Order: sequence, then structure tokens, then C-alpha cells
Amino acid sequence: MKFIPGKTYIPVSGKVFDKEEINNAIKVARDGWWTEGEFSKLFEKDFKNYLDVKFVSLVNSGSSANLVALYSLTSSVFGDRALKAGDEFITTSVAFPTTVNPGVMLGMKPIFIDAELDTLNIDANKIEKAITKKTKLIMVAHTLGRPFDLAKIVDLCKKYNLWLIEDCCDALGSKYEGKMLGTFGDIATYSFYPAHQITMGEGGAIVTNNSLIHRSIRQFRDWGRDCWCDTGKDDTCRKRFQWKMGDLPFGYDHKYIYTQVGFNLKLTDFQAAIGVAQLKKLPGFIKKRQENYRSLYTFFSQYSQYFQLMEENSMNDISYFGFPLIVKAKAPFTRNELTEYLEKNKIGTRNIFSGNLLRHPAYIGIKAKIKVIGDHKNADLIMNNALWLGVYSGIDKKRLEYIKMILTHFLIKKRK
Ligand SMILES: Cc1ncc(COP(=O)(O)O)c(C=O)c1O
Repeated sequence: MKFIPGKTYIPVSGKVFDKEEINNAIKVARDGWWTEGEFSKLFEKDFKNYLDVKFVSLVNSGSSANLVALYSLTSSVFGDRALKAGDEFITTSVAFPTTVNPGVMLGMKPIFIDAELDTLNIDANKIEKAITKKTKLIMVAHTLGRPFDLAKIVDLCKKYNLWLIEDCCDALGSKYEGKMLGTFGDIATYSFYPAHQITMGEGGAIVTNNSLIHRSIRQFRDWGRDCWCDTGKDDTCRKRFQWKMGDLPFGYDHKYIYTQVGFNLKLTDFQAAIGVAQLKKLPGFIKKRQENYRSLYTFFSQYSQYFQLMEENSMNDISYFGFPLIVKAKAPFTRNELTEYLEKNKIGTRNIFSGNLLRHPAYIGIKAKIKVIGDHKNADLIMNNALWLGVYSGIDKKRLEYIKMILTHFLIKKRK
């Protein structure tokens, strides 16, 4: 689309696609197989290779991925480690709601820990003290693609026998010390909503290297059924009419035997078809995001008296979701003044998701069912003073130069 400075809106994120996505979707329409099908299989295979993981399950959103991931750990196959109502899980107040909600829905107690200002991730130094006999799980996101302190968190999980669910919805392609995010915990989740590194319109994925967890993920995703046949297939187990389970008669059709109280959160093959084309473009998307991030970093580094930028850690290779920054308290302008000015000049901005989740009506409403560790001063500061700007590959050189020019105008005006 032609860019007219000051007229064409520059969103923080968006879909970048070409004929391949459209042709793939048309192929699905023509084939007439619209539920999970061949493109879903292909995407799973490509995604497995990309992340170097054993099992991938596709779902209709990142939120569904989180829901299924958490519920999969309630299976009785996990014995004492199975999650249940009354158990506690560690999370952070600087969160996307649906990273926390599945645990709440199960009746678990979220233990909220504050975030760090230079990563916007959970403050891992505060976790150990918050762990009790009831703690079973750590479930947190790598905020805006930046890895949380995996060394510390993985160690704690080992020490206290806790599950780790890595919410990688914002972090597809990021690496921690050379290793892909999503391969450190027991389960990782991904979102393919348009704001993310790749998109299917709506979509998500759940990955694991553990076959028991994978089987449970599929059960919860697919109505709770015991059968593991692909959509449209029968008798994969070769004893479809020879099972004896629960109080059902011998030989009851395995396709309709339910071992879990499950959902149906599968996606359609249209989504997977778009995803297959998008995944091929991912390395290019990440490169462009990194270039845009670096350019904004260089720009904002000139104004360190006004802005706190995120930590630079050469051990990590980040697939940036956006460019986050915090307006310092002593700056001669507020975050809202800055975002209003940018939006007025057709430049999209976003807050850091919920800011401080604990301040939202939904979570005030369940105050009695949560535990808050210490004060959440950083979460409040992030809520009041932080924002993020777009870095996705729809932001080309012209747009980026325009963004920097408008920022410069604003800063000159405010300095007077
Ligand atoms: C960290 C995180 N987790 C989960 C989600 C939910 O993903 P979806 O919008 O696909 O449901 C998002 C959405 O952006 C997110 O940022």
C-alpha cells in the first residue's frame, strides 16, 4: 500500500502475506476438506522441524493453547503431580489475561509476582520464597519475545518438582543462549493472531517433547475423547471395537469413549494452509523485526534521560514482538501525552497488554482466590508509563523514518 506520511495509518502490527497464503486457502476451499486436514499435518511437521520438538498440536488461538496446555496436566496419568483445584501456580501481574485464566478456571490459586522493569518479565528472584507445598506449576510468558530468566526458573522447577508452561505466544523464534524458547519447559504455547510473528488470522499451537503430555493435550483438545485418530480417520488403534473402559460395555466404539472432561478447540485447514505459507516467511519476518528494533533502539538511546529501554543481553537472540520502552517519571511528558501525539500523527502504539492485571475489574472480583507477593510497584509503573511501538515487517524504511521524525518533533516541543 502506498504510504502517505501523516495520512496512512501505521499500525503496530499486521498481516504481511502474498499469493501463496491466498492460493493455499483456495486449495482448501476446492478440496472441500475444511476441518483439520493435510495442511494441518504439514504445518505440524514444519513447526516441529523449526522448533526441533517432538509433538505439535494445533488449536484455534493462543488462549486455547494455554487452556489445553494447563488442562492436559490434570490427567490422572501424572499421579500426584496432576494439577487440581486448590493447587497453586506462580505467575506475574504483568501478563496477558489468558496466560493466567486457565489456572483460575480450574480452581487453582494464582500467586502473583511483580515484573522487572528492564525485561517486563516475571522477577525470577522473587519466586523461590513464594513456593509452598501446594505449588505445582510456573506459567508465564516471555514478554514481547524477550526470554524470562530461564536458567533460574528451570532450576526452581527441577528443585521443587514444578511443571513449567512457557507461554511463547509473543516469542516465536526467540532464542535463549542459542536454544529456541518453547523447548525449556514441559509445554509451550503459541498464538497466530495477526499481531504475532506469523498469522493464521486466528490460531495457536501447543508443543511438548513428552508423549504422555501430548496424548493428554489431544484428549482435551478433541472433546475429551480417548481415541487418537486424526480427523476423518478410523481405527488407528486397530481395536476400535475391542476396548473396555469405565462402565461402558465391552466393544463400545472407541471413537466415542471419553477419558477427560474436554473441549473442542481444533482449527480449520484454512487456517493451517495460511500458516504453512507464513512459516516459510518467518526467518525474513524476524530479520526485519530485528532491524526495525535496532533502528528504534539507536534512536531512543539518544534520549536516555527520558526513556528506560530494555536490557541488552548478547546471549539472547530475540524475535521481537514490538519495541517496548518506559517513560521515566522525570520526563517532561507523560506516556499518554506521547501516545496521543503519535496516534494523532497516524502512528499506532500499544500499552504493555494489561499493565498490572491485579488492577482490572475481573481480578479485583476474585481477590479472595489469589495471592499477591509483595508490592507490585513495577507493574504499576509499567501500567502507567510503558508503551510499545511496532517493528513488524509492514514497517518499511519510509514508515520508520516518519515515526522517528514525529518522535523528534514531539521531543523538541517538550524540551522547550
Ligand atoms: C502472552 C500472550 N499469551 C496469550 C495470548 C493469547 O493469544 P490469542 O489472542 O491467540 O488468544 C496473547 C495474545 O496476544 C499473548 O500476548
